[in-house]
Amino acid sequence: MPQSASLNRRKLLTGVAAAGAAGVGAIGGAARADHAAPGRLAGKTALVTGAARGIGLAIAKAYAAEGAAVVMLDLADPGAVPPVEGFRIANAEEFDAGYQQVLQISPNVIKITADVRDVRQMEAAAAEAVRRFGGLDIAVANAGYVRWHSFAEGTELDWKSVYDVNVHGVFNTFKAAIPALRRRGGGRLISLSSIGGRQGVPGNGAYNSSKWAVIGLTKQAAIELGPDSITANAIAPGPVDTPMYRSVAQRRSMGVDTIEQQDAILGPMLPLGYSPVMAPSDIADAALFLAGPGGGAISGTVIDSAFGYNAFYTA
Ligand SMILES: NC(=O)c1ccc[n+]([C@@H]2O[C@H](COP(=O)([O-])OP(=O)(O)OC[C@H]3O[C@@H](n4cnc5c(N)ncnc54)[C@H](O)[C@@H]3O)[C@@H](O)[C@H]2O)c1
Repeated sequence: MPQSASLNRRKLLTGVAAAGAAGVGAIGGAARADHAAPGRLAGKTALVTGAARGIGLAIAKAYAAEGAAVVMLDLADPGAVPPVEGFRIANAEEFDAGYQQVLQISPNVIKITADVRDVRQMEAAAAEAVRRFGGLDIAVANAGYVRWHSFAEGTELDWKSVYDVNVHGVFNTFKAAIPALRRRGGGRLISLSSIGGRQGVPGNGAYNSSKWAVIGLTKQAAIELGPDSITANAIAPGPVDTPMYRSVAQRRSMGVDTIEQQDAILGPMLPLGYSPVMAPSDIADAALFLAGPGGGAISGTVIDSAFGYNAFYTA
């Protein structure tokens, strides 16, 4: 596809999330939800984990632009997880910069530094969301961590540290949010799986299967919480232009050195030829749909937002 056509398609893809920003207004600072704000999430409060950057930040921006009060949560401390050569999680400066971006969209945003691996910290975060904004309607378990290793050489540290964030972190986020969602009479739980959670992927064993587990626990939540009018769904993104996907370690695992080489491998595998890599806002569009009025009848499913790559492996 010629570059200009690709850019036009990109604008179409990302336009929805940007459209609501202009109409959001302040009615008293960051201490309560602006229920007068227009948008598909007007009057709702959302907790988004891993919100300092990447997909989580894009979701926070999209939700704020659609009238939600947003609680951005991130650990924002690379020293607090086992180091990974060629990759690190977000730091405090990135978290603050992301928070400032959301604040430009809406005053109804707070940031909480907390660890999804600790259920008590997550319960405190949910309580803070309720205290500041009067309730909680949406929880997005987006925070993720990755280590690259072969199956045979994977260590206990590899498996445990990845599962702690990617599986227990999702469970902790959902568990902490459920009482507040129940008090609202319903709500939305959204998790981030991956195309790696839909197929076997060589080279990142713990991450790969942790993303399968995310789908399993999300389906269980959907069945058990349906009677409480709470939906639970997972999003399985393809390759997204974020620090995780663009890390040196990710490229090394693909056997390449440069971003151009990385794109040359996966680009041709994506049926939708918009771009060899997705934008974080593409995934935010799916998260917005699941959280918004159109998502109320959908639960226990996985949205493959992967430029069509999923057509190769899903029924
Ligand atoms: N980028 C991709 O290509 C891609 C593809 C499929 C799925 N995903 C998934 O999407 C989600 C977001 O990924 P991303 O690409 O934006 O990654 P990213 O590394 O850019 O962002 C992840 C965020 O999670 C935070 N985080 C990590 N551990 C945490 C913890 N213990 N507590 C709180 N926050 C923590 C990080 O600080 C970071 O801000 C992840 O679950 C990831 O596995 C990403």
